[in-house]
Amino acid sequence: MKVTIIGQGFVGLSLSVVLASKKIQVNAIDINKEKILNLKKAKPPFYEPNLDISLKKCIKLKTIEFYYSHDQVKALGEIIFIAVPTPNINGKINLDFVSSVLNNILPSLKNMNTKPVVVIKSTIAPGTTDRTLLPIFKKFFKKLGSDFYLAINPEFLREGNAINDQLKPHVIVLGTMDKSTKLKLNNFFRKLYGNKIPIINTNFATAELIKYSNNAFLATKISFINSISNLCQNIPGANIDEVAKVIGMDSRIGPLFLNAGPGFGGSCLPKDLESFISVFKTYKIQSELLESVKKINDKQIDIIIKITKENLKKLTGKTISILGLAFKENSDDIRESKSIELIKKLLFYDCKIQVYDPLAIENTKNVFSDKIFYADSILECINNSDCVIIMNSNNEFKNMKKQELKKLVKIFVIDTRRILKNSLSKKNYIQIGVKN
Ligand code: UDX
Repeated sequence: MKVTIIGQGFVGLSLSVVLASKKIQVNAIDINKEKILNLKKAKPPFYEPNLDISLKKCIKLKTIEFYYSHDQVKALGEIIFIAVPTPNINGKINLDFVSSVLNNILPSLKNMNTKPVVVIKSTIAPGTTDRTLLPIFKKFFKKLGSDFYLAINPEFLREGNAINDQLKPHVIVLGTMDKSTKLKLNNFFRKLYGNKIPIINTNFATAELIKYSNNAFLATKISFINSISNLCQNIPGANIDEVAKVIGMDSRIGPLFLNAGPGFGGSCLPKDLESFISVFKTYKIQSELLESVKKINDKQIDIIIKITKENLKKLTGKTISILGLAFKENSDDIRESKSIELIKKLLFYDCKIQVYDPLAIENTKNVFSDKIFYADSILECINNSDCVIIMNSNNEFKNMKKQELKKLVKIFVIDTRRILKNSLSKKNYIQIGVKN
């Protein structure tokens, strides 16, 4: 079995590595030559647990080959997965990368006797396949299901867990509109995952809608708990973690995605929510719920700044230390990270910023260059600080050493994730969502 995977980002690369580790022959393509050169040397372009080990294993197995253009590939195989970015531009999803990949690759399928199934893994808005993708196929081929094969297969993996999620997805969603593609892909995924993982067969539009609804619901859960957390912050004795724990025990609600904090970031939830709102607008349907989810998320950092200001009396000239830069723990990804938004706003108030994150310092340097101080350790970051703000629950922050805690006792601390609640008890320690 041979497949081609176009786009080696989080989704494409983790898929490439997992399929290759299962002895499927993988052509892994990305237009970024430097990325491909590094991948050939088993160097991943981002941090992801177990990715480097799995990559080395596949290279050794010789089940993966890296290319920067499909022209270099001799045989494309039975399936072509497309996992290129669909960035959000002015609130709408941009399809330029997907369209250009299709326009490039489809002519080379024309003369093939057995045509590969093209599977879109990139997140696309409901209605996109019918409106934009099918017309591209129709330029080169006549009939879906005999001249060409197309499926929509959205991805639900989480950063920081990409390899595991790829190995054991909770569901496979397949949007198809012809029997032949449906059969080919059901056979492929059944062989890959056995009978334990459910395969949901649906049409193009529903598959597209499932992905957006899934992410919008996760975002809604977070904004819901953050709005209750903001209320707790003002009611003496109220504690958001206890509220979240108990409502999460109701099986109709469930415990996940109820961890209050500085708001959601990352490359998916904010972008997908915004594009989903614009889809509602396209169909002239009210989207008040999702607009509120976004509004709540957009305001979280201002609430943290307000608390900082109230406690420091003024912000101008203060030294503020930020622990945690990535959009979530144990990641180096700062895309749409709330920490970056916080730093930008604090710089506007002329604060002196000192930052530390075990993984995301290098990426942060590209944003702020010499405008802020980059520390090599927690101790260096909190040195001479007026206020320490903990932004993500990195293991290093959760398991702070005695020496670090001793120093923190003397500084005003805002813990947006309440990770030091058991190790730091003092007057000038504020937990978001807890009113002492
Ligand atoms: C998300 C979705 O979970 C995944 O299904 C989709 O395919 C891509 O987007 P990811 O971006 O990796 O995955 O991050 P996730 O773990 O979902 O966290 C998103 C953001 O929400 C982070 O900023 C995180 O800190 C925040 N979050 C998450 C909370 O603030 N509270 C929670 O309870 C959970």
